[in-house]
Amino acid sequence: MIKAENLIRKFGASVAVNDISFEVKEGENLILLGTSGCGKTTTLRMINRLIDPDSGTVFLDGVDVRTRQPEELRRGIGYVLQNHGLFPHYTVAENIAIVPRLLKWKGADIRKRVDELFQKLNLDPALTEKYPAALSGGQQQRVGLARSLMVNPPVLLMDEPFGALDNLTRISIRKEFKALDELVKKTVIMVTHDVQEAFEMGDRICLMDKGEIRQIGTPEELLFHPASDFVADFFKEQRLQLELKSVLVAEILPGYSGKNVTVWERMEALLEVDNPHLPEDSINIESLMSAFSAYKKQ
Ligand SMILES: Nc1ncnc2c1ncn2[C@@H]1O[C@H](COP(=O)(O)OP(=O)(O)OP(=O)(O)O)[C@@H](O)[C@H]1O
Ligand SMILES: [Mg+2]
Repeated sequence: MIKAENLIRKFGASVAVNDISFEVKEGENLILLGTSGCGKTTTLRMINRLIDPDSGTVFLDGVDVRTRQPEELRRGIGYVLQNHGLFPHYTVAENIAIVPRLLKWKGADIRKRVDELFQKLNLDPALTEKYPAALSGGQQQRVGLARSLMVNPPVLLMDEPFGALDNLTRISIRKEFKALDELVKKTVIMVTHDVQEAFEMGDRICLMDKGEIRQIGTPEELLFHPASDFVADFFKEQRLQLELKSVLVAEILPGYSGKNVTVWERMEALLEVDNPHLPEDSINIESLMSAFSAYKKQ
């Protein structure tokens, strides 16, 4: 679906992105993870041509994006900006309608889609007449996502979508986002510097440092088979929690019927954190933990 090949981008003498390549399959969720300044935003912006690389190529469905008009390309790629990126002098309704208007949607169709997305994203319809400054950070973030989803693009780029939120709001919003049917089918590249977020949201993680990729793989691969000391050290402090988030219950308890349920999610359910996707079972904390430690000893 998306293929980046040998991308290099310099700003003056400094190299922001230094020869990186990766692929994202249709429906996959790839996380660009790394500390501030490592080149995440620059990488993301080369995909929808907000920036062009000095060398290297981005392919979307096999087509070099440089052969396409930037404006036309961007209409098919949702983009959630770092710090929501809503226009302050436009109301929420006007912000959300920008791309649909460019595509000459009828007013009634725009309203119908706004109603649908606001319901899915738990946004009060009354907010549409307000200006972004009158919204809470969490509401702004949801509106930013609603805007990017309006015309239902197959590809979504998200730059630190939860970056501006406090920790508790972040955790609950990303759970909601993960369960959102509108996102499940999409090909998503999401930027974050938050390790826990990367492990909760990513099918695969691309760990970057100083403009280069240190390792790209599933959360489990990065954690249990780090490519270097750098990778191992990056996750050291939060290791146990990350292990619980990357190992599936079905891996430690063969025959478990829940697909893609992590040990962490099953533990949360024992602590009565809601998760409607869990199957009925008779697991308790002792059985879960002893299966997990047996798995780790292998
Ligand atoms: N327009 C620009 N002009 C000059 N230098 C830039 C520009 N954009 C990015 N850079 C530099 O390129 C490097 C990578 O920046 P980038 O914004 O991609 O990092 P990032 O990983 O997204 O960081 P953060 O987590 O802080 O958002 C940084 O050193 C930054 O200063
Ligand atoms: Mg950035």
